[in-house]
Parts: sequence; C-alpha cells; structure tokens
Amino acid sequence: MIVGMETESPHPHETVRAAYSARSEEYVDLFGSMTSTHPSDRALVRSWAAELDGPVLDAGCGPGQWTDFLTDRGLVASGIDLVPEFIRRARAQYPRLTFEAGSFEELEDATGSLGGVLSWYSLIHHEPRNIHIPLAEFARVIRPGGGLMVGFFVGDTVEAFDHAATTGYRWTVRALSQELESVGFEVIETHTRTGSGYRPHGAITARRQSLR
Ligand SMILES: C[S@@+](CC[C@H](N)C(=O)[O-])C[C@H]1O[C@@H](n2cnc3c(N)ncnc32)[C@H](O)[C@@H]1O
Repeated sequence: MIVGMETESPHPHETVRAAYSARSEEYVDLFGSMTSTHPSDRALVRSWAAELDGPVLDAGCGPGQWTDFLTDRGLVASGIDLVPEFIRRARAQYPRLTFEAGSFEELEDATGSLGGVLSWYSLIHHEPRNIHIPLAEFARVIRPGGGLMVGFFVGDTVEAFDHAATTGYRWTVRALSQELESVGFEVIETHTRTGSGYRPHGAITARRQSLR
C-alpha cells in the first residue's frame, strides 16, 4: 500500500443516504403510498397503534406514508429519515405533520418520552453487529410499557443480500428478537409471511420493559 493513499470507507449512513437519494423518485413511485403496502401489514400496524399511548416516531419514515397512516389512527406521529429528498417529499405531501432529516441512532427526543417507535424496514441496511445501536436508542426514547414495531426481511439465517438500494440483511425472527431483548424490550408478537410477489416478510412487536 502506498503511504497516504489509504481510502476510508464511507460511513454506513452515507452509503444508505446516497443510495436512496439517487433513487428517491423511483422509490416514491413504487412504495411511497399506502396503496403499495400489503393489507395484512396495514392491519398489523393498525392494531399495534391502537394500544399506544403517547407520541410515536416513524423511524426511517421514507416519504412519510406510514407517519400519515399513524396520524390518521389518532396518534401524534412524526418522522425522521436520513434522506433529504424523502423529507422534502413528506413535508410537501403531509404539511400538517412533522418530519426531520437525521439519523434515528441519535434522537433529540427525551428519554422515555415516546409512546412508540415504528421501524418499518428501516433497519434492513444495518450490519447485524451494529443493529444494537439503533435498537438501544429506540429503547431509550420509548417510555416503559411503550411499543416498538419492526418490519424486516425474514430468512433462515442472518445474511446479507443484494437489495436494490444497497446491501440489505435478512434476519431470523429468533435472532432479531434476541437483539430486542438484549436492549430492554419484551417481544410480544412475531409475524411472518411468504407469497408470490413479495420477499419473505417478518414483523415483531415489542414492549419497552420497565427501567431496571
Ligand atoms: C426500505 S426504506 C423504508 C422507508 C419507509 N419506512 C417505508 O416503509 O417506505 C429504509 C429507510 O430507512 C432509512 N434509514 C436507514 N437508516 C437510517 C438511520 N440511521 N436514520 C434514519 N433513517 C434511516 C433510509 O433512509 C430509508 O428511507
């Protein structure tokens, strides 16, 4: 190696931000409305949301369609995402709602201030060895008894795959549940779904345990 020629890899956030920024319009067209979501996902998030008490954060909100869905359920919901194009789009589409550009790994919300966090496919690009970082941040901001919902790609093993945006990771329900438990959540429900036209899907709902 030539001294002084080492190149640093970009921070994973930069990789994710650049990947979605480059394809933000395509993403919005394909996935940016509730009509593109699966009916059983809507039912699941709806029933989860009905049990929440307090403000909800849509963590990795993309263009904001789930933030709006949560607001329509009567919740005070806001969204955060790394990708400025998504945040601009969300603000234009849902001007009543609050959206912030930033990382959900470092939230400004006070400890225990939220009733819940929705992380719908927003942890899919986190390297498994680092997923405890955002999960611990979710555990910090959710009040004891509050709820977390995680949607993700499910597989028989924890492994990387080529996602259209940038490297994604499949999780087993068991491995992701263990990660949740290790930062202070109690797993309440797990769901999986397979079927043509969709990648195998998983969802976990969890409750923030009382502070130990
Ligand atoms: C597959 S998209 C899902 C977007 C949205 N939840 C939906 O269902 O359409 C993943 C999103 O997570 C966001 N994301 C990933 N890591 C993030 C982080 N550390 N902080 C904020 N957003 C993040 C990405 O920018 C991207 O918008």
